[in-house]
Amino acid sequence: MEIGWSPEESGIIGYEHYMLKEIQESPRAVRDTLAGIRFDQVSEAASLIRNSERVLVVGSGTSYHAGLLFGHLLEKEGYDVRTLIASEATTLRPREGDVLISISQSGETLDVLNAVKNHFKKYNIKSISLTNRIESALNFVSDIRLHTRAGPEVGVAATKTFTSQLAALLYLKSLIVGEPTDYLEGAPAAVSNSLSQQGYAKAIGEELCKKSDMFYLGRGMGVPLAMEGALKIKEVAYIHAEAYPAGESKHGPIALISDGFPVFFVNDGERTALLINNLKEMKARRAKTYSVSVNSRIGADEEIYFEGDSSLAPFYISPFLQMVAYFAAVCKGANPDRPRNLAKTVTVE
Ligand code: G6P
Repeated sequence: MEIGWSPEESGIIGYEHYMLKEIQESPRAVRDTLAGIRFDQVSEAASLIRNSERVLVVGSGTSYHAGLLFGHLLEKEGYDVRTLIASEATTLRPREGDVLISISQSGETLDVLNAVKNHFKKYNIKSISLTNRIESALNFVSDIRLHTRAGPEVGVAATKTFTSQLAALLYLKSLIVGEPTDYLEGAPAAVSNSLSQQGYAKAIGEELCKKSDMFYLGRGMGVPLAMEGALKIKEVAYIHAEAYPAGESKHGPIALISDGFPVFFVNDGERTALLINNLKEMKARRAKTYSVSVNSRIGADEEIYFEGDSSLAPFYISPFLQMVAYFAAVCKGANPDRPRNLAKTVTVE
């Protein structure tokens, strides 16, 4: 059961697809998630992590990408973090002093449940879960249960639940490192700002819809956001998209670049000079470059630019990339709500 949304609010009235409706619900989902945070529980989770020797993060699909971003932010603060794809997590032998955080919007993904319940719990590792549903199977096997309040998500591809996970994880990270959380009050507005660029996202999506392959490149927290951008366009628009840390693109991927090959940069405003170098390398090989940029431009052929608090960069970047994927799918005549071969919740290993 999701928290705080009536059945009527889950309807699709006025929208062609749930996916776009749910992307547009992201400002509310983020606001509700932040407003609904149980300070006592998040503080308990924060102190568990602060006092740990190593943080293990597990998730699948989009939730894994949320975990990577969280892990990146903690690593920057000096924490030892291992972010693991749930289906591979059982090969890691935990140590005393480890703490586990599992992320799953449904709380039912079998790979995640299996890792937590049948593996880490056996080693008596304390575990925290972050789900969008109360009473999910994952909640029952976790010591501390945190929630997003994104409401029901019908579209198979995760959208507003991802943005909400980021809000909850950034809040948790702020408590862990002892920084104020007020900056997150700007998150819903950052998402709304991103959504106001729907026309540009549509134009880009319709251009990409004619392509069969592409890259997403980023640095720092731009890496998991690039991975999520690539996953989304693969899932709903069937475009073969690969994501790389931008610096790694010259170690192989660049061999694929030829005239008009689309390369989408995710520019969170940090290490911009290096991203510009990578962009120039791509342009020199006649790639068609795109960028979603926060606080600094890099000069891509098509560049959407947002100005705001750089700590909120994911809230500008993610909804825009989700809209690009949505419009690419629609342009292809695909149904983004029901991508072929995919299930909303995967309960097999
Ligand atoms: C499926 C869905 C993805 C989702 C993943 C993890 O593969 O198609 O959109 O990210 O499961 O789901 P979870 O509920 O664990 O976040």
